[in-house]
Amino acid sequence: MSEGPLYIQWANYYLKLIEKGSIKTGERMPSIRTLVKQHNISVTTALQVYRHLEDLGWLQTKNRSGYFLQTPPEQIMNLIEEPDIVVPDPAQYIGIHKRVSEFIAKTNQHPVKVNLSGAHAAPSLYLAQEMKINGSKALRDQPDLLVKPPSFIGNPHFRKILARRAISSGLAINADEILITQGGTQALNLALKAVTQPGDTVAIESPTFYGLLQILESLDLRAVEIPTNTNTGISLEAFELASQVYKIKAVVVMPNLQNPLGSIMPEMNKRKLAFFCQEQGIAIIEDDTFGSLMDNETPINALKAWDHSGNVIYCASLTKTLAPGLRIGWMSAGRWHARVQMLRFTQTRSNEEWPQVIAAEVMGASKYNRHLQALRKKIKNQKNRIKLAVATYFPLGTRLASSDGGMTLWIELPEKISADMILEIALQEGILFAPGSLFSNSNRFNHCLRINCGYPYTDEIDNALKQLGLIIKTAMK
Ligand SMILES: Cc1ncc(COP(=O)(O)O)c(C=O)c1O
Repeated sequence: MSEGPLYIQWANYYLKLIEKGSIKTGERMPSIRTLVKQHNISVTTALQVYRHLEDLGWLQTKNRSGYFLQTPPEQIMNLIEEPDIVVPDPAQYIGIHKRVSEFIAKTNQHPVKVNLSGAHAAPSLYLAQEMKINGSKALRDQPDLLVKPPSFIGNPHFRKILARRAISSGLAINADEILITQGGTQALNLALKAVTQPGDTVAIESPTFYGLLQILESLDLRAVEIPTNTNTGISLEAFELASQVYKIKAVVVMPNLQNPLGSIMPEMNKRKLAFFCQEQGIAIIEDDTFGSLMDNETPINALKAWDHSGNVIYCASLTKTLAPGLRIGWMSAGRWHARVQMLRFTQTRSNEEWPQVIAAEVMGASKYNRHLQALRKKIKNQKNRIKLAVATYFPLGTRLASSDGGMTLWIELPEKISADMILEIALQEGILFAPGSLFSNSNRFNHCLRINCGYPYTDEIDNALKQLGLIIKTAMK
């Protein structure tokens, strides 16, 4: 037997049997009762054994009929190859707005039955009841909450809670260095406005979250797209090369669980980038929207943890983890703090305080950590189901990005099939996803797509993925 807790030892025992081929894909696993009897373990341990194997992607539960062996998606699906391009795309004014507008217009023409395009979880996965109770309590405790002017930089108690929670990302910031924003979107807008002038060049990951491309366009900024690795994030080599060719004012990165790739920059790369940018006078804007959705429970450092000179503007969003409906984000702007505060004052003055009081109560309670754990686990399981469906239904040659967390799955279709064309057909069936063309100003990702994994896996989603697979296979003929 191996080392570690009893359930891990028995899980490893079953992994060995699987490896030897003693249990085959599709076969039913022994029942929980059998495990208890055969191995002389408790029901709880037996359940933990299967839950662990399920988390690793090896088991599938079928309603009331037990546990069945499946091959984890990573074992049957090819992973996306890393880009070999080191040379960045020429800096250009972003023209993405047209693509996004066309995408929205297209989706408006068809009633959507299965929406796989977003990047948020199902409402049932958030703490709706706690929000409701705390919302009422806040109004009872502070009857003038909605009629008094809110604090300019954000509710002090809430900022303290955010500062305390930021320690687990390696951030030693105090509550006064935190500004509450209207979602991560306002934080990114303010950060870019603080460090650039219209016409300046900003380096971005490629592919990147299309909301960022829209912000750059709206601020009249030029973007230079830097090849980004599905495992290790932005290519430092390509970024350094670009900085010799262009006068880069800022670089926007998502070091932890990049959207859409799910990549994570190794600590060494975070440190190198922080150091290089500080030397070169290039501001770093860190977007940490998904960092707290790592599959495993180990907290991961933000890039700002390596910042010793205030050169990193850290932007976060609570839209994915706390509640999409509250629209809360926050930022710590380092040496641009005063400028960002002034800019925000010209935009929204202060932000509504009621949502912040609710958020402070919910995030300050110990239940919030359990919520985050449960959310991570559910998303991971949902993503595993989607990976398996893609492996089963999509044509051979489809590849996916492997990621250790996050809300979405990035898929590369074979033979340079146009995901925009697939979307046109899928929409007629009421299926919506985010095509790769939205994530870059180049055409390099036109054969890719991003699928939301935030919703519980249902027959509807399964049918939609089956249908998508058929559409793609037909398009290849
Ligand atoms: C990477 C990334 N940054 C920022 C945002 C914007 O966050 P918010 O919805 O809080 O404005 C999103 C939203 O999807 C995102 O995916």
